[in-house]
Amino acid sequence: MIGRLNHVAIAVPDLAAASTTYAGTLGAKVSAPMPQPAHGVTVVFVELPNTKIELLHPLGDASPIKAFLERNPSGGIHHVCYEVDDIYAARDRLKAEGARVLGDGEPKIGAHDKPVLFLHPKDFYGTLIELEQA
Ligand code: CO
Repeated sequence: MIGRLNHVAIAVPDLAAASTTYAGTLGAKVSAPMPQPAHGVTVVFVELPNTKIELLHPLGDASPIKAFLERNPSGGIHHVCYEVDDIYAARDRLKAEGARVLGDGEPKIGAHDKPVLFLHPKDFYGTLIELEQA
């Protein structure tokens, strides 16, 4: 059911420093910081030949990654995002399998203007999974 790895998201305490690390030390192509107020994050996109890395930093007090960074002050992998062909079919299948879909279970428009869902990390080996409509 799951398809391509769309991105790996890493929460970072200092977006400028993380951008420099990815652009300089690792020699990757990085975007300018892109504030996404609707999602409570500022994102730097790191373009790799086969996927993307998203460096996330909290934006606003209600940011969904604020508590994560409090628990992981030096940063850490926040989620992985897999593409699915049909997000409603994927959701229904996962619920039938007993997986927990976060929130009200309805897909929301994500950071790439496509419908996304998040799955409970305790059902997937400690990893928060984002599913994105391909
Ligand atoms: Co994501």
